[in-house]
Amino acid sequence: MTEEQWVRFARVERLPPMPWFNLRDMSDEDLRAMYRFIRALGPKGERAPAPVAPGTPITTPFIVFEPQRAAGAVESF
Ligand code: HEM
Repeated sequence: MTEEQWVRFARVERLPPMPWFNLRDMSDEDLRAMYRFIRALGPKGERAPAPVAPGTPITTPFIVFEPQRAAGAVESF
């Protein structure tokens, strides 16, 4: 992806929980700085695993991204 492509790609609406509106609202200057920083890290690593639909077996490590109620808490989320 070129720097110009990244500046456009970064402004596309994404699915939750991605805070895409924060990325969208970054200045071109900040998005370009991000691109150059990441490119300076060197060759890319392995591809991230594909998304898994609910109920489908998961074969890689994963994080449960779910709000928890604290013990004794009165308010819910
Ligand atoms: C500076 C911080 C972040 C940057 C630059 C960033 C950037 C991106 C980009 C470029 C994508 C699109 C990837 C693709 O389609 O190939 C993406 C997707 C995603 N991000 Fe982030 N992200 C950031 C923070 C976060 C955080 C904090 C979360 C969750 C807590 C998150 C969750 C996600 C998810 C779930 C997707 C997939 C959404 C979809 O498929 O539409 N991201 N992110």
